[in-house]
Amino acid sequence: MKNILLVSTSLNPGSRSRKMLKIIEEKMQNVDLNVDFVDLIDYELPFCDGRHPLSEYGEHAVKLDEKIKWADAYVFGMAVYCYSISGVFKNMIDICCGGMANKPFGIAAASGGTMSYMAVEDLQKILSFEVRSIAYPRVVFAANEHWDKDGKRDEGLMDPIPERIDEFVESFSNFIKKI
Ligand SMILES: Cc1cc2nc3c(=O)[nH]c(=O)nc-3n(C[C@H](O)[C@H](O)[C@H](O)COP(=O)(O)O)c2cc1C
Repeated sequence: MKNILLVSTSLNPGSRSRKMLKIIEEKMQNVDLNVDFVDLIDYELPFCDGRHPLSEYGEHAVKLDEKIKWADAYVFGMAVYCYSISGVFKNMIDICCGGMANKPFGIAAASGGTMSYMAVEDLQKILSFEVRSIAYPRVVFAANEHWDKDGKRDEGLMDPIPERIDEFVESFSNFIKKI
């Protein structure tokens, strides 16, 4: 059975991309995959400065790297920061992307504005150029307007996003199993 790692990369305690990833995790319990979840909020990573080997970045980096190597595929929860990925996420990629080489990945992205959806292209570009990862083209994306304003920050995900998550889980899982 294939291993899939869900990686939440936002440090916001009320992260919406994390919430979408949690929904994806729940839905993936019904597919034939080993699913694990890691949250960068639980990992203390120093800034990447080119040191080598990876163990020089400490035990959290080693632990994260082991999880990344274990996986056959990934889904990243991505916060759109300045029309791109966050610095925290980029730093994690700088340190730990070796284990992602040639493997497929999907994206669940949260942004403020609806026009920021093209920020996911930065992540697709970074990983495909750096380690020849395979970007899955169907992305889950939600902007501020897709969340109920009256609830907690990460509650009240509105249509059509839940349906898109269902479609994503089904099609991405099938894709992973076939390759
Ligand atoms: C530093 C910073 C930069 C941001 N830049 C953008 C942006 O360029 N475009 C946008 O639509 N939203 C932007 N936002 C809003 C976030 O994308 C939004 O709050 C999203 O929910 C973050 O994901 P998260 O909830 O998983 O942390 C920015 C937020 C922060 C804190």
